[in-house]
Amino acid sequence: MSDIILGIESSCDDTSAAVIKDGFLLSNVIASQAVHKEYGGVVPELASRAHEQNIVPVVSQALAKAGVKPEELTAIAFTRGPGLLGSLLVGTSFAKALSISLDIPMVMVNHLQGHILANFVKQEGKDNRQPAFPYLCLLVSGGNSQIVKVNSPLDFEILGQTIDDAVGEAFDKCSKMMGLGYPGGPIIDKLAAQGDPTRFKFAKPHIEGLDYSFSGIKTSLLYFVRDEMAKDPEFMEKNKEDICASFQKALIDILMDKLIKAAKQTGIKEITIGGGVSANSGLRNRIEEEGRKRGWNTYLPEFKFTTDNAAMIAIAGYFHYQAGERTSLDVAPVSRIADF
Ligand code: KG4
Repeated sequence: MSDIILGIESSCDDTSAAVIKDGFLLSNVIASQAVHKEYGGVVPELASRAHEQNIVPVVSQALAKAGVKPEELTAIAFTRGPGLLGSLLVGTSFAKALSISLDIPMVMVNHLQGHILANFVKQEGKDNRQPAFPYLCLLVSGGNSQIVKVNSPLDFEILGQTIDDAVGEAFDKCSKMMGLGYPGGPIIDKLAAQGDPTRFKFAKPHIEGLDYSFSGIKTSLLYFVRDEMAKDPEFMEKNKEDICASFQKALIDILMDKLIKAAKQTGIKEITIGGGVSANSGLRNRIEEEGRKRGWNTYLPEFKFTTDNAAMIAIAGYFHYQAGERTSLDVAPVSRIADF
């Protein structure tokens, strides 16, 4: 008999539902929340209210697109955390209600594990290349920057992680301070494509081992722009493409240095990336370039699986379900990974 899993994702500002049948994606619906744009960042209370409005139509659409009736579902996978508590509560409560009404089990999923396993979502008509275990995943998002060694779908170790800001935060905060807009990643990515990445240099952090730090480079960019603007108020406007290209290159260099080190230390040549920043075109090109040079097998997720989506939650839930895991109805969402 087939396993049909409904995935529900509501950890931040995207409400998403997806249906997966025996590992194949049938639907993946995402409702993004425009309400945060004018505040230059996600407002938690507004996010949970928007999730409440979105969750029923998003789940209904995902089922309709998949051509699956609620009573045909095998289990419900939902994001338990990490993320915004109020947002997570909407998805978790919805999963519980559906689990009771349909009398089917639910399985909780760690959002980061979803990103790490995004390459396992199979699609009809695609080549569905999947990394072999163990592989390394560079997990880069608005809240995390980690190098993860994935031994099996349910067994992974964090080899290195940021000791301060996440790389997505560096993109977002710097873009906001430079007056370029929010979210910063895609804006900087676009401007960087038209600029000279060698024009400006930013100091690199010296952190032991495989850990990252992004707060120093963020400050160094902001001081640099402030000092130049004091000399020429039009400096930013005249040079924004080169500034973005140089800044983005510096961030990618930092990410790649440690990833290369991790690959050397572990001897692993199966390399994947995940999380919102894995949509970055500069980073994607660089991973492929290094991969060709170093004999890596690289796996880049499709754009729709880089940012928050329920397809990755459904596939992670599918692995947990197959391993016999079930989540009890008294489960509560958690905002921090340490509480998982
Ligand atoms: O995984 P994600 O959707 O959720 C959070 O962790 O919140 O990641 C969002 C992050 C934001 O920091 C955003 O600026 C970044 O992903 N991002 C990008 C790009 N697209 C999204 N960063 C760099 N280049 C991009 N093209």
